[in-house]
Amino acid sequence: MSIIVFGSINMDLVATIPRLPVAGETLLGRDFFQVPGGKGANQVVALAKLGIPTQMVGRVGADSFGTELVNNLKASGVQTDHVFVDETVNSGVAIITVEDAGNNQIIVIPGANGHVNQEDVERLLPLLPRATTLLLQFEIPISTVVASAKAAQQAGVTVILDPAPAQIIPTELYPLVDIITPNEVEAGQLVGFPVFGEESAKKAATVLLQRGVKCAIVKLGDKGAFCATPEESFFVPAFPVQTVDTVAAGDAFNGGLAAALFEGLSLRQAIVWGAAAGALATTKLGAQPSLPDRVTFDAFLKEKGVGRGGVAGYNNT
Ligand code: RIB
Repeated sequence: MSIIVFGSINMDLVATIPRLPVAGETLLGRDFFQVPGGKGANQVVALAKLGIPTQMVGRVGADSFGTELVNNLKASGVQTDHVFVDETVNSGVAIITVEDAGNNQIIVIPGANGHVNQEDVERLLPLLPRATTLLLQFEIPISTVVASAKAAQQAGVTVILDPAPAQIIPTELYPLVDIITPNEVEAGQLVGFPVFGEESAKKAATVLLQRGVKCAIVKLGDKGAFCATPEESFFVPAFPVQTVDTVAAGDAFNGGLAAALFEGLSLRQAIVWGAAAGALATTKLGAQPSLPDRVTFDAFLKEKGVGRGGVAGYNNT
């Protein structure tokens, strides 16, 4: 069995700067580097680095970025037979600026990701019977997200949706989603009121459950995550770390979450894994280079007193 990620594959072009510029300002940066990214690819690599069997479904362009991106997925241990090389368009890119305080701005040019269509959904279908979980995000056209979620639900595959970047969600999508994982900004845009901190996250999660998702996890960054299902609701605090760059922290969270569920851990424990993977990802620059491997991940959990059955400091039995 494996986990499928159907989503975006980008090349991230990253500039580090003392602080984010204001409109019209020219700033001298510190450094520039190019690393594989894209929310879909980040999530699949997060899983693969934790040792989970994975399949990527998506598109790259027939350019040097595309070749590099697919080679990188393969080198990370991801099955890439269903990544289509689109001759008609460039690979997706993200222009990212990261300031010294760790905050970032990201502009995504979808390229091939924007051309993902029903043909890619058809490529995904034969993989579903051997999958436990399908991870989706919003950097591919929403019609393909809906179609693939529908197919996954019919096949009995768990659907985890990261509604990023925030979009208006068609109402038919909510009941197709097992777990939705917005951050505060995305949750606010989905529910129509500001979300910051545990109380408003709880209200937002309630709205998302009413719309039909089976579980809502609101990611609260360095504060933690709030989770609600029809049966229970709880808060999991973040692991304090020295943040260098938050790019891909949310993707790492989803990778950790899905990896734990794949390994049969409880929902609460899976959120602790998500929080741990997300925290580790903020301690390094770049998207995929910042995602923890299994040795680093296990060592971090051990250091924090997190066992498979429970978490020291967390009331999570
Ligand atoms: O979530 C982080 C990702 O968002 C980056 O890797 C960038 O490619 C954008 O898609």
